[in-house]
Amino acid sequence: MRSSPTRAEVERSLQADRRPAQPAPTTSVPVVELRNVSKVYDGGSIGLDRVSLGVERGEFVFLVGPTGCGKSTCLRLILKELEASDGQVLVSGRKLGEMPRKKVPRLRRNVGVIFQDFKLLPNRTVYANVAYSLEVIGESRQSIRRKVPSILRLVGLSTKLHNYPDELSGGEQQRVSIARAFVNHPPLLLADEPTGNLDPETSIGIMQLIYRINRTGTTVIVATHDREMVDKMRRRVIELESGRVVRDQRSGRYRPDESTSEFAIRLRGELGVGVEGHPN
Ligand SMILES: Nc1ncnc2c1ncn2[C@@H]1O[C@H](COP(=O)(O)OP(=O)(O)O)[C@@H](O)[C@H]1O
Ligand SMILES: [Mg+2]
Repeated sequence: MRSSPTRAEVERSLQADRRPAQPAPTTSVPVVELRNVSKVYDGGSIGLDRVSLGVERGEFVFLVGPTGCGKSTCLRLILKELEASDGQVLVSGRKLGEMPRKKVPRLRRNVGVIFQDFKLLPNRTVYANVAYSLEVIGESRQSIRRKVPSILRLVGLSTKLHNYPDELSGGEQQRVSIARAFVNHPPLLLADEPTGNLDPETSIGIMQLIYRINRTGTTVIVATHDREMVDKMRRRVIELESGRVVRDQRSGRYRPDESTSEFAIRLRGELGVGVEGHPN
């Protein structure tokens, strides 16, 4: 067990991890836009109440607030699992309210989703869980054989291809679900309480992985009520309260060129979590 990485190790991992900084968000069409959106459920409870927000390409956004404030409602509207009661939801400039039903599968193929409870198929191996998400969209066997091992390498699960979900730790199961969400490199990734079932050290590993995906240019929206993690991450924060936006803050301390390793090291330091050497 190591207490902290040596300087040389840090330097090495930074070199390996360093990517050119993302270009500044342009003023082109936002990836996600909500225009005065309200959602009232049957029975009258309010999911969202006149919410307006825009998320630009390549952004990393936290959606925060207490249970019941509307985070999941917001993500489900973006997936067109729910229809807005009022206002407009746009994804890549397309109004979801006007999108014909037959276009919805294509929308969902372009949005990766990660959940708190992983939603893996229990009777399929790690490999088969990821492969399944490609089979259902009609990918060729050849492409599946190429893509699945590659994405499982990216999430650090190359040695677990033939294991079943119940043979994995919570962090490893979440890595499988991230692999499944990202195997086709969708331009938008939504995560609903992705670290809700995980301990702090494991959570940092998962956030580091999501950040790495963001660094490839993918727009990321993470819903969470883990305030401490969010404050430490120094990314844009949209806070909801009773379905309304009460804060939309771009942290002044945000460093767009921070590498994923620097990020994890800083986060561990700030959260007081030691480097235990285990990858989840
Ligand atoms: N399917 C549903 N039917 C009725 N009310 C719902 C439904 N889903 C969520 N709500 C209500 O909408 C509000 C927002 O819920 P939700 O978006 O799940 O919040 P969060 O994800 O922030 O915990 C809550 O008052 C909740 O009870
Ligand atoms: Mg929720």
